Amino acid sequence: MEEVARALAASKSAVAFTGAGVSAESGVPTFRGAGGLWERYRPEELATPEAFERDPVLVWRWYKWRQELIYAADPNPAHLALAELERLGVLKAVITQNVDGLHRKAGSRRVVELHGNIWRVRCTSCGREFPVEKPVGEIPPRCPICGGLLRPAVVWFGEPLPRGAWEEALSLASSADFMLVVGTSGAVYPAAHIPRVAKRNGAVIAVVDPGETALDDIADFKIRGKAAEILPRLVAEVRRCLT
Ligand code: OAD
Repeated sequence: MEEVARALAASKSAVAFTGAGVSAESGVPTFRGAGGLWERYRPEELATPEAFERDPVLVWRWYKWRQELIYAADPNPAHLALAELERLGVLKAVITQNVDGLHRKAGSRRVVELHGNIWRVRCTSCGREFPVEKPVGEIPPRCPICGGLLRPAVVWFGEPLPRGAWEEALSLASSADFMLVVGTSGAVYPAAHIPRVAKRNGAVIAVVDPGETALDDIADFKIRGKAAEILPRLVAEVRRCLT
């Protein structure tokens, strides 16, 4: 922990890369090994354009369930710690695969959302995008302009990532000298390329996760534990290094 804090405090362009694990302690279940109601569905079976075409109500039931969980969720100490690192001038940005918006809610200013945001919907007929403030009511929801079927404005398997977000993430990763990877299985591409790009360009990689991840092979440091416990301790150490 001290070594990671020292490297982080000494870095010039540190970036965080986060996944579902960072929101686990806010009560938002992770995708793999999530448990509960949806365990019998794999994300690859629900989060696809084909699944939506086949059964939009099923897919919307899943997203409505996630919207409700997220609506009731608050940022946890892990989100707050990352926002604090940005305020301290230590972290340049958070690149996240999460669609829950909790990094921004915690106060992080530069957040790159690789997989979109669950609080936006897009019409499958006219293509218009709308923000939504609370969980959808009747499902499937309809476009208020043309009556077409609305879908969540998130990235599904087989779909390209939003170009702007992807380019910003690539550029941050290429110039990062430190990447803090938190709560991601690292199993989903192209997102999981981001820490690999950082590593190739010479960044120090620190992985925070209670389990094994597919990114452990590039980790210079691995801190095993829950993000909401580890990250506040890391911030405290970084503060000590800065004074
Ligand atoms: P996963 O569900 O694949 O992985 C969650 C990771 O979080 C695992 O490595 C867990 O060990 C770890 N974890 C669990 N609890 C934790 C805690 N309290 N603190 C820290 N880590 C914890 O989630 P992602 O890697 O984010 O994509 O999944 C990537 C993408 O797959 C998602 O963005 C989503 C999904 O399908 C799309 O929907 C396109």
